[in-house]
Amino acid sequence: MLLDGKVAVVTGGARGLGRHITARFVAEGAQVVCAGRDALVAKSAFGDVDRVVFHPVDVRDEDSVDALFSFVRGEYGRLDVLVANAGVSRPGPVTELSTQSWAEVFETNLTGVFLCLRAAAGLLGPGGRIITLSSVLGANAVAGGSAYCASKAAVEMLTKVSALELAEAGITVNCLSPGFIDEGMGKNLAANEAVWSKFRPKLAGGRMGTAAEIAEAAVFLASSRSSYVNGHVLEVNGGIRW
Ligand SMILES: NC(=O)c1ccc[n+]([C@@H]2O[C@H](COP(=O)([O-])OP(=O)(O)OC[C@H]3O[C@@H](n4cnc5c(N)ncnc54)[C@H](OP(=O)(O)O)[C@@H]3O)[C@@H](O)[C@H]2O)c1
Repeated sequence: MLLDGKVAVVTGGARGLGRHITARFVAEGAQVVCAGRDALVAKSAFGDVDRVVFHPVDVRDEDSVDALFSFVRGEYGRLDVLVANAGVSRPGPVTELSTQSWAEVFETNLTGVFLCLRAAAGLLGPGGRIITLSSVLGANAVAGGSAYCASKAAVEMLTKVSALELAEAGITVNCLSPGFIDEGMGKNLAANEAVWSKFRPKLAGGRMGTAAEIAEAAVFLASSRSSYVNGHVLEVNGGIRW
């Protein structure tokens, strides 16, 4: 097993892609702290799984993030892997986007990743792994995606800078950039035919990705197999014609 005995935190770990990453990490032998806002969702996903514990977190809130990592320190004394997966999207034309929507996206997708990354870095030792989540929309502009696209582009740069800064400590920081995935946000997007008809032709392989394919890439970035991969944005999108 690739993650045998590893202690991992997955934010937003009970729903969507995070749920699959949590499940796959457990299958690879990890102990996972599934961190999110809704204990009931986590309970229905992982209530009967031994190596998953839920801990509440709102990644926008510094005290909440610090409490999560204090829990990890107290319970396990260390951390091996952080997957900063929690994210939101608030689409809308830039001229109509509310300040609140803009703030929700940036506080979750960028500040949330920063807060978790900073707190995790104090617990990770040599061999430690930080995985952030960007998106195909972090590198490709789409009308209506101003906040989301900009936040994900920023996550990619935050990842690269952090990778340089943490390399001496033996910690790698990489970014997983999914394309259009048949789960979570991607599934919601595909359910709206008017929107999806614009994106479907971009899929070079003619199909959406699966959550299992994202979880597989997360395992690679979390495991010793990626020991010399650092500051990288791993695109898992089947090929996109933009
Ligand atoms: N699915 C795709 O096609 C796709 C493509 C590219 C990138 N991504 C990225 O992949 C990641 C996961 O997306 P997804 O599709 O799985 O979305 P999702 O199904 O909407 O799940 C998002 C997760 O983030 C959590 N979350 C949101 N705000 C939070 C906060 N303030 N504090 C703690 N947790 C919070 C949610 O928890 P709650 O239940 O509390 O809301 C949920 O568990 C995101 O970063 C997204 O941008 C997804």
